[in-house]
Amino acid sequence: MMEKIPVIIDTDPGSDDIFAIFLANSSRLDIRGLSVVAGNMKAELTFENGLAIKEFAGMNTKVAFGAEGPMCIEQRVGSFLHGDRGLGKFDIPKPTGSALKQPSWDFIHDEAVRCRGNLVIIALGPLTNLAAAIIKYPDMESLIKEIVMMGGSADYGNRSAYAEFNIWADPHSARIVFDSGIPVRMLGLNVTNRSAIPFNRMGELYRIKSRISRAVEDVFYYYEEYFRKMNIPGIVIHDAVAVAAVIDPSMFCWMKASVKVETQGTLEDGRTLVYHGDEDRVLVGMDIDMDRYVNLCMDMMEYYRKEEEISV
Ligand code: RIB
Ligand code: CA
Repeated sequence: MMEKIPVIIDTDPGSDDIFAIFLANSSRLDIRGLSVVAGNMKAELTFENGLAIKEFAGMNTKVAFGAEGPMCIEQRVGSFLHGDRGLGKFDIPKPTGSALKQPSWDFIHDEAVRCRGNLVIIALGPLTNLAAAIIKYPDMESLIKEIVMMGGSADYGNRSAYAEFNIWADPHSARIVFDSGIPVRMLGLNVTNRSAIPFNRMGELYRIKSRISRAVEDVFYYYEEYFRKMNIPGIVIHDAVAVAAVIDPSMFCWMKASVKVETQGTLEDGRTLVYHGDEDRVLVGMDIDMDRYVNLCMDMMEYYRKEEEISV
C-alpha cells in the first residue's frame, strides 16, 4: 500500500484553487493543512474562502492564514475571471470555524518538523508564505521534501509577455524560494496551458452529480465564455495540474533546468528564466498526458458522487 504523502496546500482561492483542493481531497494525499495567502483576491476574501472550502468539502484539516500581500512591492491582484468573491458564481456557505492562531509560516515549519523531512508543499499562489518561512527558519531547507508549484513559465506569461501571475504578484518571494535549495517542481504556464479540458468533457464532469460537481459548475461559470473568446478549446485549471503532478508525476514529462526570477525588470518583472546551467536543480513540467489527467478529474467527481451516495 502506497504511503500517504503528507502535504500542505498553500493557496489563494481562487476558482482553479478550489478545484485543485477538491482534487487533492479526493486523492490519497495526507492534507496536513491549507495555508492561505492573498493573491487572486485580497486577503480577507482568500482567507474566508480557504476556511469555507475546508468546511464545504468536509476536510479534516487545519487552516492557517498567512501573508496579506507581497513581501516588498505594492499588491498586484488577480484576474476578473474569479468573480466578485473569488469562486466564480459559486455562493459558498460562510465558514463557521476559525483558522489556527499561528500564521502560515510558523504552521508550515512546525508541520515540517512533525513530518520529519517528508512534507511536500503544493504552492498554488504567490510564494510569500513560503519565503517568510524560509527567512524565519534556517532549517527549512532540510525539512521540506519538495515544493510542487503552479507558477512561472518556460515560455510566455499571463500577466505580461513573460510573467505568470503567482510569480509576478511577489517576485522577491519567488526568488527566495527558487534560490533556497529546497527541491522545486515547477508547473508553469508552458505546461498548464496544454491542459485545457475540452468543453464536452467538462460537461461530463458536471454530469457526475454531487454537491461538489454542482459547485464546480458554478465556480467555472465565467470560464467557458472566457476561454472560448480566447480560442482555447477548453477550460484550463492551472492549479489542478500542480496537484496532479503530486498525485502522479509520471503523467508529465520533466526537464531538469535552472530557474532564476527577474525582480528588477520593467517589461520582464516576475519572469522565470528557465535555462540549462551548471547545477540544474528544478524539475520543470514540459508536457502532460491529457487522457490520464482528464481521467483523474473524472475519478475525483466519481469519488464525491459515491461519498454523497453513502452519506444519504
Ligand atoms: O497564473 C495562474 C495562477 O494564478 C493560478 O494559481 C491562479 O489561481 C492564480 O493564482
Ligand atoms: Ca492559485
